[in-house]
Amino acid sequence: MPGLLVVGLQWGDEGKGKILDALSSTADVVVRYQGGSNAGHTVYHGEKKFVFHLLPTGVLADGVTNVVGNGVALDVVQLLREIDELAASGIDVTPRLRIAERAHIVLPHHKALDAAREDIRPPSGVFRGIGETDDAPMSQPIGTTRRGIGPCYADKAARLGIRVVDALDPDRLEARLHPVLKEANALLAGVYGAQRVELDETMAEIGPAIDRIRDLVCDGGGLIRSRLADGKRVLFEGAQGALLDIDHGTYPFVTSSSSTALGAAVGSGVPARAVDHIVGVAKAYTTRVGAGPFPSEIHGPEGVALREAGAEFGATTGRPRRCGWFDAVAMRYAVELSGVDSVCLTKLDVLAGRETIPIVTAYQIGDRRIESFPADVSDLEAAKPVTTDAPGPATPFLDARERSAVPEGAFAYVGAVEKAIGRPVSMLSTGPDRDALIRLTGDLWGESTGSGPTA
Ligand code: GDP
Ligand code: IMO
Ligand code: MG
Repeated sequence: MPGLLVVGLQWGDEGKGKILDALSSTADVVVRYQGGSNAGHTVYHGEKKFVFHLLPTGVLADGVTNVVGNGVALDVVQLLREIDELAASGIDVTPRLRIAERAHIVLPHHKALDAAREDIRPPSGVFRGIGETDDAPMSQPIGTTRRGIGPCYADKAARLGIRVVDALDPDRLEARLHPVLKEANALLAGVYGAQRVELDETMAEIGPAIDRIRDLVCDGGGLIRSRLADGKRVLFEGAQGALLDIDHGTYPFVTSSSSTALGAAVGSGVPARAVDHIVGVAKAYTTRVGAGPFPSEIHGPEGVALREAGAEFGATTGRPRRCGWFDAVAMRYAVELSGVDSVCLTKLDVLAGRETIPIVTAYQIGDRRIESFPADVSDLEAAKPVTTDAPGPATPFLDARERSAVPEGAFAYVGAVEKAIGRPVSMLSTGPDRDALIRLTGDLWGESTGSGPTA
């Protein structure tokens, strides 16, 4: 049962899309198992750029079956937009795409609630909603992508969600929507002073979209399990990153799904032991979009310079990403949590020209020095990074395809990262292109019996 999992180890945008694309041609099946259109996975084939929000990244590879898993918060309209965009450039992905019938659908009221909850919280932290007279403090904005992710997963947990299978029959969809919208509109209009979302609007948007995907809907988990039983190679595609995980991340500044490796089994519908090797993707530095603690953040012009050098702007919302140094405290936590076997390090090319690069090895919180990642957000906010200088790549190596084109200082940095987090680096990414990748270890599929070539 060869299963290979690719998961982000930081706050997302580590370069998972690029790595998944590079690995997908060696897979038989690629499954996206959590998150929704909050994700933005960028892939370059030469000059051609693709950004996937919901489509599994394997859609560009020939002969690969791509599954949108049951754990995905599925915005059907956005999925169709991606399908149509590819079709316009001559790529018909539908023959190789399947959608799990148990995936929950993101509905218009989810997006409205997501936006309303972000908007009603002014930076002062004071509630100013309709009819609210006191100054009761509200929590800070999360800085969500406003794609309806939190409210969709909240409805799922509240047993109010609507799955793909529930939406196939329009009468049933309408009957399910009635009570759901009644509650949502009470919140939207009554609490947030936002616009209501009407049943007929929702039906007009979702009904035709469901019709278009009807033939792609299947028992996603069943399909993946049977391919695994046949010895086929399954590549599990994580979205977001470990520190945005709903259970294990920097709560409440997280997304609403399990974005560590722990979510792969539940979001795909496979046994946990289906995964043989876990690759964690990490940037050589750290970025974060949205609000929340970020102990290794670089404030001021140096942070801005790193953002410019790394073109750190969100693939989904275009927001500038906050930048910081590589945080070995957070990374040790992330690799242990996900049981990461090896790491793919990306964007070290961005740091070329530096003789030394700081790595965060501990946090100073008041008079405490700690080396473990705290659960308490106020500890994380108070944490001052303790850094050590690692060697850096003195000369540029963007797009290097061979080890010989990479300066020794880059490998010295890789060695420092390995030592700091206790895991080997199996791949060094040297640029956005799929081929800008140097394999440092052997076949990631291990003792596979699959049919594809070795990774
Ligand atoms: P994802 O969400 O983890 O798939 O990452 P994003 O696509 O949101 O952001 C990663 C960005 O870095 C994209 O623009 C990639 O094209 C780019 N990228 C990926 N790997 C490398 C690398 O090794 N070097 C450079 N310079 N850019 C990279
Ligand atoms: P990929 O897969 C980076 C962040 C948002 C916000 C928080 C909650 O491209 O790595 P949400 O809309 O999920 O409720 O927002 O999570 N976030 C991401 N940050 N990359 C992502 O995905 C993200 N998906 C969500 O910015 O801080
Ligand atoms: Mg991204």
